[in-house]
Amino acid sequence: MHRGLMAVRRNSIQRLLDGVFGIAKLRDGQQRVIDSVLDGKDTLAIMPTGGGKSLCYQIPAKMLEGITVVVSPLISLMKDQLEKLEEIGVRAVQVNSCLNAEEEHAAIAAIEQETCEIVFCTPERMVSPEFIATLQKVTLDIVVIDEAHCISQWGHDFRPAYIGLGAAIEAIGRPPVLALTATATDEVVADINKQLGRKLNVINTGVYRPNLHYAVQQVTSVAEKYQAALRLVQASEGVGIVYAATVKAAEDMLAVLEEAGESVTIYHGKLPAAERKQNQDLFMDGERRVMVATNAFGMGIDKCDTRFVIHLQIPPNLESYYQESGRAGRDGLDATCTLLYLRDDKRLQQFFLMKHYPCAQELQLVHCTVRGLGDTGPVTPARLDEALADLADSSIKVCIKLLKDAKLIRQNRKLEYTAASAEPKPGIFDKLAAVYVQKQEHDKHALEQMVSYAVSGFCRWKLILDYFDDKVAGFQNCCKCDNCLNPPALSLTEGIEIRDDEFDHEPVADVPVPKFAVGARACSAKYGEGVVTAVAGDQITLDFADGESRTFMVDFLTPA
Ligand SMILES: Nc1ncnc2c1ncn2[C@@H]1O[C@H](COP(=O)(O)OP(=O)(O)OP(=O)(O)O)[C@@H](O)[C@H]1O
Ligand SMILES: [Mg+2]
Ligand SMILES: [Zn+2]
Repeated sequence: MHRGLMAVRRNSIQRLLDGVFGIAKLRDGQQRVIDSVLDGKDTLAIMPTGGGKSLCYQIPAKMLEGITVVVSPLISLMKDQLEKLEEIGVRAVQVNSCLNAEEEHAAIAAIEQETCEIVFCTPERMVSPEFIATLQKVTLDIVVIDEAHCISQWGHDFRPAYIGLGAAIEAIGRPPVLALTATATDEVVADINKQLGRKLNVINTGVYRPNLHYAVQQVTSVAEKYQAALRLVQASEGVGIVYAATVKAAEDMLAVLEEAGESVTIYHGKLPAAERKQNQDLFMDGERRVMVATNAFGMGIDKCDTRFVIHLQIPPNLESYYQESGRAGRDGLDATCTLLYLRDDKRLQQFFLMKHYPCAQELQLVHCTVRGLGDTGPVTPARLDEALADLADSSIKVCIKLLKDAKLIRQNRKLEYTAASAEPKPGIFDKLAAVYVQKQEHDKHALEQMVSYAVSGFCRWKLILDYFDDKVAGFQNCCKCDNCLNPPALSLTEGIEIRDDEFDHEPVADVPVPKFAVGARACSAKYGEGVVTAVAGDQITLDFADGESRTFMVDFLTPA
């Protein structure tokens, strides 16, 4: 770009930062993303949780003439985002299923008359023919896909509604795309490109956030866990979030904290919408100090002075853990992220994994049921649910999605299903289910890695950076996590009094002979051969020829 033009662009950005957003200067990466967008390139920004991804579309939305559409899965956040933008004079509207007819009418009118600069919508709305027709008639700057990892079935939080986005964006005239996420592995990046049918300009500023202090506390019972969480809350200053893996655990935690007189509220998917919203506001407005929540309260939440995040159970993978713990310290000040680890919790996550996936028989059953019900009238979702009362709701949804993708069933505008007239090809149900067998393997491996984080003696940040294959120049240890501050080898012997009589017996050798010794060579399937530089329990660190050092579970290595 011509230097003069670049200077003009920089000036306009600075004026917006000073005059509208009240932000001194752009953070690392934001400038590059904004330049890429203003140059008209399709862009994928991978920036840490709290890294300021929103500003990367807000600035271009102000600078460009037309409308910026932001697709986001987070209805509960849209209102807050709108209000924040309105306060600073950015004209924005939202379109989602929570609006009443009058509100929706006003939002659509604002789009049609192009009186708004930013439109927030859900992926479900983005793919609806009516909304596409509205967008076809207006000038669009960019389409932003927030939480873009949701588009990939390899992503940790796959949302079927994201599947149709590629086609919808084509239908509205193929405007440039800006995809945003905090967590995308190479696999997910490739899938985002594939789903959108584009080659996005990837700007990846990594995941490292040095102000987050990670720690894990091992506990041996559920009761001990709630007490440990209570002590952590009592010992922490400022506001914080306690994450629970189930509604029941969230309710139990709430009771313990309330009993102890803590200022606390709760958020989960089973609360009525109004109560959920009210509780969210109580926490966001600072009227309650602690939020106990399931992962329904997660992605995108920006309460920037959150000082601590406690997890009562391990999440299913490190991406989810990074996302949820990433609610802490978004103002850049120190914050702690503590995981309470009970060995049995792994089974809970395994249970969730098992429930998730349909097998060939279930697919066939759903297909047959749609067909059978079709003979006696329109197949509404309610009729189908009733006929399939033995199947979990989530299973029915995933089956329907797979059958729709395979064009074995269709859904009309009234949301009624019809089975295709052609007979399903032999083996088709096995083939469809196979995709999920593969995904299940993938998820199992991801859970193993989450567990290995929980039991590791290594620097927590090193484990997270290794997982995301993120190379932070010069990084050795974070020096702030529990393992850095209190290396496990030392803490084992610290404070243990050895009585003389213990020496009367021959010590029993229950320490297994390590499979790998420091200095030996070992092989990883992904990275090839390296030299062992550290051994901590069942975790082995290798140095590789490319100068990188990576940590593995012993089971993933073979002797070289
Ligand atoms: N350049 C900046 N300087 C100071 N503060 C900033 C800057 N950019 C953004 N922020 C602030 O950082 C906070 C986090 O921003 P934002 O919500 O956009 O994060 P995010 O990248 O979308 O994170 P997540 O992945 O968790 O959704 C906001 O409170 C925002 O105002
Ligand atoms: Mg965000
Ligand atoms: Zn550390």
